[in-house]
Amino acid sequence: MHGKISSPSSALFIILRPRPILGLMWLINCQELTLVEVGSVLNVQYAILSHTWEAGEEVQFDEFRNQTATTKRGWDKIRRLCRLAIDEGYQFAWCDTCCINKTSSSELSEAINSMFHWYATAVRFYDASWRAIGTKATLSEALSNITGIARNVLFVAKDRDLDDVLGQVSVAARMSWAAKRETTRVEDLAYCLLGIFGVNLPLLYGEGERAFIRLQEEIVKTNNDLSLFAWRSANSPLEPYRGVFAQRPGDFQNSGGIILANSIIYNSEFTMSNKGVKIEMNLSYSNKRSLHVLFLNCHNEVERQANLGIFLIHQGASIFARAQPQFPSIARSLDKVYRRAFIISNIQGEGSRNWSTGDVGPKALWDSGQRMFITAGLDNFVGYYQYQFYSGESKTDPGGFYVFFGYGYGLEPWLRAVALEKNYPLLYAVEIGDMRLLAQEVQKIEPQDNIAAEYGVAVELVYGAKNGEPVFVVDCQWHRY
Ligand SMILES: *[C@@H]1O[C@H](CO)[C@@H](O)[C@H](O)[C@H]1NC(C)=O
Ligand SMILES: *[C@@H]1O[C@H](CO)[C@@H](O)[C@H](O)[C@H]1NC(C)=O
Ligand SMILES: *[C@@H]1O[C@H](CO)[C@@H](O)[C@H](O)[C@H]1NC(C)=O
Ligand SMILES: *[C@@H]1O[C@H](CO)[C@@H](O)[C@H](O)[C@H]1NC(C)=O
Ligand SMILES: *[C@@H]1O[C@H](CO)[C@@H](O)[C@H](O)[C@H]1NC(C)=O
Repeated sequence: MHGKISSPSSALFIILRPRPILGLMWLINCQELTLVEVGSVLNVQYAILSHTWEAGEEVQFDEFRNQTATTKRGWDKIRRLCRLAIDEGYQFAWCDTCCINKTSSSELSEAINSMFHWYATAVRFYDASWRAIGTKATLSEALSNITGIARNVLFVAKDRDLDDVLGQVSVAARMSWAAKRETTRVEDLAYCLLGIFGVNLPLLYGEGERAFIRLQEEIVKTNNDLSLFAWRSANSPLEPYRGVFAQRPGDFQNSGGIILANSIIYNSEFTMSNKGVKIEMNLSYSNKRSLHVLFLNCHNEVERQANLGIFLIHQGASIFARAQPQFPSIARSLDKVYRRAFIISNIQGEGSRNWSTGDVGPKALWDSGQRMFITAGLDNFVGYYQYQFYSGESKTDPGGFYVFFGYGYGLEPWLRAVALEKNYPLLYAVEIGDMRLLAQEVQKIEPQDNIAAEYGVAVELVYGAKNGEPVFVVDCQWHRY
């Protein structure tokens, strides 16, 4: 008996995965120390050098061709590269400083579009004095720790295709690899990701952050992964609305642990249209925030039961904008979005008018309208709020104190009132924004060393409720007067 062959009812999608074209390439002939143009590099084996640039000391393409740079320090680097290449049995070598004719924009563009694949098969690491320190295989753990890139991606087994391995990693996690990267030109932040997403872009130096938007548009064309939208704005002050795309790779800095909930072939398709990204999906609705929620079919590896989404606000017709872009929506259950919020009360009682708000942090989580930090979804949280005091008499006004509060890092919810300017370790932790260090330093302060008492104020962390949801309240009561 023959079973019925199921066929797609409406549309069939044929996946396109463009690969970089490996065309003309300049290589160093290691024996003769000359540049040669090689027609097809598919069958040519060559050594490739990735290195730190030394300003003014690198050998440029033209200088190599006319052999006028032999006194530069960069020349020695090339000589050593060639010697090493010959020792390892290679006739040719490639180095980005001198093997790209940068006056040819098409050649530069092709080189940058292909570079990821050129480097992908390299293995070896050398220290500053050219001693071998290991291969990518032996160093994969350390490299993974430093870059945040999974080991199976850094070291792809011989029988596996790099593009297939990359395809298993969420787009959001791949973006996070560049979140802390610094490049001389802002466009390179986008261009360095081309190979990781298997897309090509014409290079337009001068377009600035627009390059990163173009990269995302290009990813939409070839990649059905909704986690592309799982970024969080780290901008300050916060914008109420944003477009669907991230502004820079840094917006993905917390996305390294995002994994796909199931295969992206089950996602609704989405496309670039002249109104923005077009997607046909049913939205959820958050009554608490009066915002729509678009779920992204992905979650954090530490909280697998919680689906990630983004908040959307209706702008009329069928158009939506991203709202509250500092959050991914955590949809363990939508009515728990306020879980673990910290509400900061004004100082109650007589004399309260002499107090005002000073510094607040982390700003990305602070909702000034509701006077609260919304921490839903974070496993660890440290916040601070500065109460400033004006006596109207002293020249050194304003006095006052900071309250620090938080949970996580293995600690029960806690609160301390501190004179920050007298506590240098704490000041340092705030300045560098290291929340774990902040939690550690604050714990060294005994609760009884409560600086707020000097101002006649009692500060406590108490349990409260807002809209029926449990919250913490930083409660301040004026006592002295
Ligand atoms: C060699 O090339 C460099 C860079 O283009 C140029 O400045 C220099 O004048 C050239 N020297 C000779 C001798 O051609
Ligand atoms: C480098 O590129 C420029 C601009 O396309 C071209 O005029 C020049 O001939 C190229 N140099 C070589 C050695 O091919
Ligand atoms: C990588 O990080 C893990 C976890 O922090 C640590 O246990 C390990 O020693 C690190 N490995 C290297 C080579 O740095
Ligand atoms: C959206 O919801 C409607 C009504 O519940 C349902 O019929 C439809 O299949 C849903 N569409 C998608 C894309 O899930
Ligand atoms: C509060 O400030 C006013 C001046 O603005 C001052 O006269 C008053 O003494 C202050 N109160 C206290 C308790 O310091």
